[in-house]
Amino acid sequence: MIVEHLELTNFRNYAAAEVHFTPGTTALIGANGQGKTNLAEALTFLATLESFRGVPVDVLIRNGEDTAIVRAQVRHPDGREVLIEAELTRTGRNRVQVNKQRLVRARDLLGVMRTTVFSPGDLALIQGGPGERRRFLDDALVAVAARNDTMRREVDRIVRQRNAFLKQIGWKTNPSALSGDETLTLDVWDEKLAEVGGQWGDARAHLVAQLQPMVTRAYEDLATQVTPIDFVYEPEWRRIGLARALAASRAEDLRRGLTTTGPHRDDLEMSVNGLPARTHASQGEQRTLALALRLATHRLVTDTMGSPPVLVLDDVLSELDPDRATALLTHMPKGQVIITSASGLPTTAHPDRILHIAAGTVTNN
Ligand SMILES: Nc1ncnc2c1ncn2[C@@H]1O[C@H](COP(=O)(O)OP(=O)(O)OP(=O)(O)O)[C@@H](O)[C@H]1O
Ligand SMILES: [Mg+2]
Repeated sequence: MIVEHLELTNFRNYAAAEVHFTPGTTALIGANGQGKTNLAEALTFLATLESFRGVPVDVLIRNGEDTAIVRAQVRHPDGREVLIEAELTRTGRNRVQVNKQRLVRARDLLGVMRTTVFSPGDLALIQGGPGERRRFLDDALVAVAARNDTMRREVDRIVRQRNAFLKQIGWKTNPSALSGDETLTLDVWDEKLAEVGGQWGDARAHLVAQLQPMVTRAYEDLATQVTPIDFVYEPEWRRIGLARALAASRAEDLRRGLTTTGPHRDDLEMSVNGLPARTHASQGEQRTLALALRLATHRLVTDTMGSPPVLVLDDVLSELDPDRATALLTHMPKGQVIITSASGLPTTAHPDRILHIAAGTVTNN
């Protein structure tokens, strides 16, 4: 799908802006602090109703204003035109309309507009804790099949309720200290978690197996050399089964008032050239890997859905050496791309359109 038109009112440093996009590559060029990322953020907000910078909606509203409006006209590959409009308020209660119809549930927006975003913050996929990588995998699962969103929420809900129950019965030191009713209730939670959590682990493992060769290819395209990339998603609980793992950790869970095993605790280990990426890879290698993760996901979603999401690359060229920057531009996936840069694009880049951004004003070129 492509975004044809974007309109902002009181969004971040934009009082009012209107931008027409081409189906190909649009470069957003401007000095630091002018509004390039803000524009990319507004666009992708309509896909997820979240900022890719992980900030609350309140922050997105222009200082001194009460509401912001983001509006985009999107065209699907079958020719369908969709108008998405979001009114952001400081209370966080957003009003979203799709073709002038009020959106009832946020998840009804899934698939209306698809974006793949790479931003400097994605370094956290490599450098950050396991939660970052779980979120990456789980977001990708939802991106390839909207129904996964239901299962993801279900796993989350069961873990939260099991934890709440563990706390409620009060840090028992031993499973034998539980009453018959307490044991039964915990058994029920374990059974539910074993079932849904087990399926979620299977889904993640399947995804990791699909992604590994795609990430390797994306990485090698960028690095222009053969580079073994390895992924290991092998939580101990998957080896013995979640039901058995939960039984084995029950005493510890009771002591800590917390579910200590399951998909909500997993990690995805990644290595480059046989060395752990988090601790051994250079900054540029980590950045390349983070970018390769996004590009591979983009390809997977494109293959699964039959058409590419809008690819948004925020500040992707900083920290890539000139060869890798050129390789990225050469291997750019098909579809609509929006790329921001403060230093301009290498001469090897030939964007279809360049937009200059200065102090919240967009000028066509
Ligand atoms: N809610 C807001 N209201 C008004 N201005 C804001 C708001 N949020 C951010 N800004 C301003 O928007 C400006 C542009 O931010 P943005 O992140 O888009 O810059 P950029 O062009 O991507 O710069 P860089 O090249 O440094 O990444 C910042 O100077 C910031 O102060
Ligand atoms: Mg920026």
